[in-house]
Amino acid sequence: MNIHRVLVTGASGYLAGFVIDRLRHDHDLTLFDRVPPGEDRTDLRFVEGDVTSEDDVRRACADQDAVVHTIALVRERMGQPAAAFAEVMVKGTWHVAEACVEQEVKRLVNVSSIVAIGPPHEPDMPHDAHDGCRFTESDLHYCLAKHIGEDICDAYHQAHGLDVIHLRPGVIAGDGLNPGPSAPDAPRDHWFMYVDPRDVAQSVEAALAGSVSHGRFNIVAGRDDSAYEWRSAARELGYHPQHNWPNIPLSGGAS
Ligand SMILES: NC(=O)c1ccc[n+]([C@@H]2O[C@H](COP(=O)([O-])OP(=O)(O)OC[C@H]3O[C@@H](n4cnc5c(N)ncnc54)[C@H](O)[C@@H]3O)[C@@H](O)[C@H]2O)c1
Repeated sequence: MNIHRVLVTGASGYLAGFVIDRLRHDHDLTLFDRVPPGEDRTDLRFVEGDVTSEDDVRRACADQDAVVHTIALVRERMGQPAAAFAEVMVKGTWHVAEACVEQEVKRLVNVSSIVAIGPPHEPDMPHDAHDGCRFTESDLHYCLAKHIGEDICDAYHQAHGLDVIHLRPGVIAGDGLNPGPSAPDAPRDHWFMYVDPRDVAQSVEAALAGSVSHGRFNIVAGRDDSAYEWRSAARELGYHPQHNWPNIPLSGGAS
């Protein structure tokens, strides 16, 4: 599939910056956000809008081959009511999927999260991307909104044949809340949950370029002690993690 014109939603956010830097030389990018991108991106087409507005999203999706959807309530989410998550992450993702079909976009790469099945659950680690849900009180609004967002996109894949690839990053290092990992005092098996944003950006590029038309993939560091299984992303998508914190020794039974 030849994908050249790509819309990046949430384009002024932390992760999107790495995605834009990775894609900008080989793709014709359009950026969408409710706040303008930084000065180093003013050469790219920018559509200012709110994902909760169907018209804004439709306008942004026009003439695109693919959409990389990164909008979510992230660092500002704590203490927000359920309705805020429903608006931005559920209704917003629904608008994106609907607009993709209306505007004949071929592929939707949905940046989800490892917590789309709930928080990590120690006995089941490493988690497979197809593990069942285990929601808890912890961060329930965000986890559930991620889960429903994936379901919405999957429905449009089933009903309309829209290519849908969910990428589930682990904790993205350096995002302002999470400076990065350090070796634990008492190492456990499969504890490592971080990913470098440059590797997430590479997974986005691979998801746009490859022949996979539907799937969900954990995108975490390429370590044997990662708490989430990442080798299916390597095998099926061509995910190739390069920034794996070799200074932090592998823990437990990992080799
Ligand atoms: N940061 C992490 O550790 C982490 C981990 C796993 C998954 N993710 C996912 O990665 C994606 C990007 O995360 P990030 O850390 O870059 O977040 P971010 O907050 O830096 O970026 C989100 C962007 O979305 C925009 N946005 C928010 N609401 C909007 C609205 N109503 N309309 C238009 N734009 C709106 C914001 O302006 C912002 O630029 C998110 O989907 C997040 O859930 C992040």
